[in-house]
Amino acid sequence: MADELERPEHRESEPHLPSPTIWPFAFAGAVALILLGLIVSLTITAIGVVLAVVFGFLWIRDVTRDLRAEPEPVEAPPPVVVEEEEEAVEPERYTRSKFLEASTLGLGAAIGGIVTVPVLGFAVLPAFVDQDYPDIDLGALDNYPEGDWVIATFTSVPEDGPVSRRTAFVRNNGLRNQVPSFTIISNRCVHLGCPTQPQGPPGEPAEVQTTAVPVTLTPTQPSGFGCPCHGGAYDIEGNRTAGPPVRALDRYEYLIVNGSLVLGNPYSVSHVDGQGADATIYRYGEAVDPGVHVDGPEQILYPYIP
Ligand code: FES
Repeated sequence: MADELERPEHRESEPHLPSPTIWPFAFAGAVALILLGLIVSLTITAIGVVLAVVFGFLWIRDVTRDLRAEPEPVEAPPPVVVEEEEEAVEPERYTRSKFLEASTLGLGAAIGGIVTVPVLGFAVLPAFVDQDYPDIDLGALDNYPEGDWVIATFTSVPEDGPVSRRTAFVRNNGLRNQVPSFTIISNRCVHLGCPTQPQGPPGEPAEVQTTAVPVTLTPTQPSGFGCPCHGGAYDIEGNRTAGPPVRALDRYEYLIVNGSLVLGNPYSVSHVDGQGADATIYRYGEAVDPGVHVDGPEQILYPYIP
């Protein structure tokens, strides 16, 4: 009885706080999953987006429950007679619960923006902007005797200087359907990116002046290509034969322009059947980073490559 007397009465006019909800935390978890997915796998990103939409919807539904509640019917208040001189416009008032709802939403949006925008700008956006490689003039076709391998070393971005030096292994395969055929293999090991070397004696290097950058050409007679870092080994078509590399060596597209060999974009290769001009190249779409599994079940562990 004493307890009942001490219990405070509920007052209808007192504003009430929104009931606690777990959806903001679930939404934050979904956003974290999206960010993780952008690094790890597109599948995880898609799951994160779906969860974020669902949890975001549930969060907004909870927060706006009071706004959507049907008002209880109340008796119309008796008309108030206002004296002429007392007529004054009452300013519109907001309850504390409404203020808290708006602040929660505003604060959540601000924190979401602060966390998400820099990540999108600095980590994700660069992957979608044009990163085409410039075409490199490797000199006249006469510099590439038919059937022989030549190590071509060149500066891929002249403005960047020596730091952009690249090496490609070039073999003139002769004519195929009256069109010159070349095999051009990147020297970048597809394990962790170390420079591979031809397994054979190198000849005398010679500098060739081209329309753009100087190119050094060194004749060689390799039996394959080897990587000094972890023992990766490749055959003469760039197929992996031993060690940790995950696929064949990357290759370059090429063009013949005014009698010169012009290097295009690199691309990644699963494996190559056959040799020279008759080889069948199992190509992936674009160049993929070293160490990345592009097919097989392992591919879900690697970042999405736009
Ligand atoms: S980087 Fe070539 S084998 Fe490891």
